[in-house]
Amino acid sequence: MQLIKGDSLQILRDLPSSSVDAVITDPPYASGAASSSAKKASTGSKYTTKGAINPFLDFEGDCRDQRSLLQWSSLWLAECYRVAKPNAHLLCFIDWRNYPVFADAIQVGGWIWRGGLVWDKKNARPRKDGFSQQCEFVLWATKGSVKVGDNPLYHNGVYQCHPHKGGRFHQTSKPVDVMEWLCNVVPKNGTVLDPFMGSGSTGVACNNLGLDFIGIEMTDYFDIAKQRLAA
Ligand SMILES: C[S@@+](CC[C@H](N)C(=O)[O-])C[C@H]1O[C@@H](n2cnc3c(N)ncnc32)[C@H](O)[C@@H]1O
Repeated sequence: MQLIKGDSLQILRDLPSSSVDAVITDPPYASGAASSSAKKASTGSKYTTKGAINPFLDFEGDCRDQRSLLQWSSLWLAECYRVAKPNAHLLCFIDWRNYPVFADAIQVGGWIWRGGLVWDKKNARPRKDGFSQQCEFVLWATKGSVKVGDNPLYHNGVYQCHPHKGGRFHQTSKPVDVMEWLCNVVPKNGTVLDPFMGSGSTGVACNNLGLDFIGIEMTDYFDIAKQRLAA
């Protein structure tokens, strides 16, 4: 296991080519506000329900507009493509607002876009005369073709899990169960790279499944990830 503190775009450039079996990540979505001035607000104010207490640290990289998000994401996705082995999977979280931007960015980065998975959070507030927004999405792509093994597994494209299952460690943490669902696609003993590991949920899932893990985080969430993974 390798945990690295710093800016992932710079750190990715130092990782060897064709060295990881999957990139499974949850980057900043930059979607928690409509106007450009509201986007620049702290992540705590954007992602805490009005009136609720926010016990979490703020995090980086969430203030980009769609044009800069496309450009920046294309850069790190291209680096991840270089670091990935042939046939590696990319699984990248996003919500509905920047889904089109990320669908473009993964293809600019060289990946072959294969589809979108759905994480059903089961707990959305009902909306008068509208649809509840109770899903987040995971873009699925591969570096070249999908490698079919001798004993193929059939992964479900939809997963239901309450967002707070297993506890919260980050303002936008992902449950370990959800990360395990995604990591199941990685070959036995494979290595997973998460360039935006936050509190390290992907790493915990890798530990549980016996996979190797490389995680990058630039804020003090790095220390939280380190503690979780040590435990
Ligand atoms: C959406 S959160 C990931 C949360 C994680 N899935 C979890 O369960 O804790 C994205 C993380 O990426 C980090 N980040 C943003 N830009 C970064 C960069 N350029 N390099 C490294 N980390 C970055 C943020 O600080 C944030 O913690």
